[in-house]
Amino acid sequence: MVFYFSGTGNSEWAARELAASLGDELRFMPDELCGSMEYTMQDGECLGFVFPCYAWGVPLLVENFIRRLSVRNVSYVYYLCTCGDDTGMTKEIFCRSVESKGWQCNLGFDFQMPESYISLPGFDVDSKEKEGMKLRAAAERMKQAVDAVRQRKCGFFDILPGAFPWLKSRVVRPFFNRFLMSPKPFRYTDKCIACGKCVAACPLHNISSADDKRPVWHDNCAGCLRCYHVCPAHAIQYGWFTRGKGQYLNPLVN
Ligand SMILES: Cc1cc2nc3c(=O)[nH]c(=O)nc-3n(C[C@H](O)[C@H](O)[C@H](O)COP(=O)(O)O)c2cc1C
Repeated sequence: MVFYFSGTGNSEWAARELAASLGDELRFMPDELCGSMEYTMQDGECLGFVFPCYAWGVPLLVENFIRRLSVRNVSYVYYLCTCGDDTGMTKEIFCRSVESKGWQCNLGFDFQMPESYISLPGFDVDSKEKEGMKLRAAAERMKQAVDAVRQRKCGFFDILPGAFPWLKSRVVRPFFNRFLMSPKPFRYTDKCIACGKCVAACPLHNISSADDKRPVWHDNCAGCLRCYHVCPAHAIQYGWFTRGKGQYLNPLVN
C-alpha cells in the first residue's frame, strides 16, 4: 500500500509510478483522513509513504496522518520524499514518526524535483530547462527506488540532507511551521476570473466560493500552494513576496 500527499503533483507522480511498478494500492492521505484509518497489510506487503519535503522535514499533515494511522501486520516500511533542493533531517523526522507507532523505517529515498516553494524572497519555481532536467533525472532515479523496495533493502537511505541539516530542520523548521504556514496571507488580485479552479483543486477542500464566486480560504491548510500554482489567471498571491514569481504543476500528472 502506498499512502501519498502532494500539492503540485511531484509526489503524486512518484507515488503513481511506484504503486504501478509494485502493483500496490494507492491512497491519498487527505481522503483517508476522513475515514476510519484502519488497515491490514497482506503478508509481505510493503507500507510506503510518499510526500513532499516541507521546511526540511515531513509536512505536518503527514505527521498527523501517521499519528492517527492504525495498520495491522506491518513488516516493511519505506518512504519517498520529493524536494526542490535538499531535505535536511527529514529522514530522522520520518523515522521517529513511524517508530512512535512501533514500526521501523527500512528504506528512504529523496527525489530532487521541480521547486514549488515561492513564498519567501529568493525562492521561485525552476526555469523550464531545469524543470525538464529534474523530471528526467527523477524518472531514472525511480527505477532505483523501485528496485530497492522490490529487494526489500533494509537500513538503506539514499537521501539529500544538504548543508546545515540540523540548523534547517531543528531551528528553521519549527519557526517556519509556526509562522509561515498560515492560510491567512492568501489573497486574490483583481485578475481573478472567478473560475473556481482553486476551490476544486485544494487537496483539503479548504477553499470555498463566496457569492461572487471568488475564493475564501479557511483554516485547514496544508501550505502546499496548489491554489497559487493552479490559478489560470495567476491571480493568487501569498503574503508580500509572491508577486512576479512563477507557477508550477507537474506536467506528468496535471
Ligand atoms: C511549504 C513548502 C515548503 C518546502 N520546503 C522545502 C524544503 O525544505 N526543501 C526543499 O528542497 N524543497 C522544499 N519545498 C519544495 C517541495 O518539497 C518540492 O517542490 C516538492 O517536490 C513538491 O511536491 P508536490 O508537487 O508533491 O507538492 C517546499 C515546498 C513547499 C510548498
